[in-house]
Amino acid sequence: MTMTNSVETPTTQEAEHLRQQLLQAQKLSSVGTLASSVAHEFNNILTTIINYAKLGLRADNESARVNALEKILKAGQRAAAITGSMLGFARKSINRREVCDIVALVEEVLILTAKDLSKHHITVETRFEGRPKACVVPGQIEQILLNLIINARQAMPRGGLLRVQVREVRESNMVEIRVADTGCGIPPDKLRLIFEPFYTTKQPDENGHGGTGLGLSVCRQIIEQHHGRIRVESVVGKGSVFTVKLPLPS
Ligand SMILES: Nc1ncnc2c1ncn2[C@@H]1O[C@H](COP(=O)(O)OP(=O)(O)OP(=O)(O)O)[C@@H](O)[C@H]1O
Ligand SMILES: [Mg+2]
Repeated sequence: MTMTNSVETPTTQEAEHLRQQLLQAQKLSSVGTLASSVAHEFNNILTTIINYAKLGLRADNESARVNALEKILKAGQRAAAITGSMLGFARKSINRREVCDIVALVEEVLILTAKDLSKHHITVETRFEGRPKACVVPGQIEQILLNLIINARQAMPRGGLLRVQVREVRESNMVEIRVADTGCGIPPDKLRLIFEPFYTTKQPDENGHGGTGLGLSVCRQIIEQHHGRIRVESVVGKGSVFTVKLPLPS
């Protein structure tokens, strides 16, 4: 009797479907790490709204009432910006490429992560040179940025500086996005491992949540699909710089 082992290879369509599912799952997992910070931020915003509403109701003059209403409006607008970027992030699973303002995508992810970063004593510095555009799937580029920013935050457990830069590199016809941190850095012998799926140094916490090691491998996959490049430079104890390059629209 002959025994044959058959391994079914997925069709190109099935493989693409699985790849999309992985991207979506990884995206939700990265947004999930922001959930508690966003909930706290909403609590703060609601406290502001409630307190100024009480103040406004008690106020005996017009200018104090206007001042209270202005504070309420500002707090409401901030909450709307946060929900807007979260909903935008969740919705953008359509894989249609469009010409996008890269700075606008970076700004949206920074709104989403602002509270999480400040809670961890991280200062954010941005430098945008012009408003370069690239033909990309916007949700996927935001996913890359979110992964890089969360990694940077996790590399700075005692706080630090996060620098995000966007510029156009005319010579190579690329948009360059740099995400630099002042965190723990990566040892030279580990640099070639970090883009491998499931490579993680993040141990599970008391709730059993550790790293999946999928963040950077998903980044690499998305960047390859966009015909871009990703590079890392790192010094242990000083920090890391991740540079993403995406082609400018032709
Ligand atoms: N900015 C950084 N500073 C220091 N080490 C980093 C940085 N970014 C990534 N790494 C290292 O690369 C590893 C792989 O990163 P990756 O994002 O793929 O997975 P993860 O962050 O461990 O898990 P997950 O993304 O699921 O939370 C990390 O565990 C960490 O050791
Ligand atoms: Mg990660």
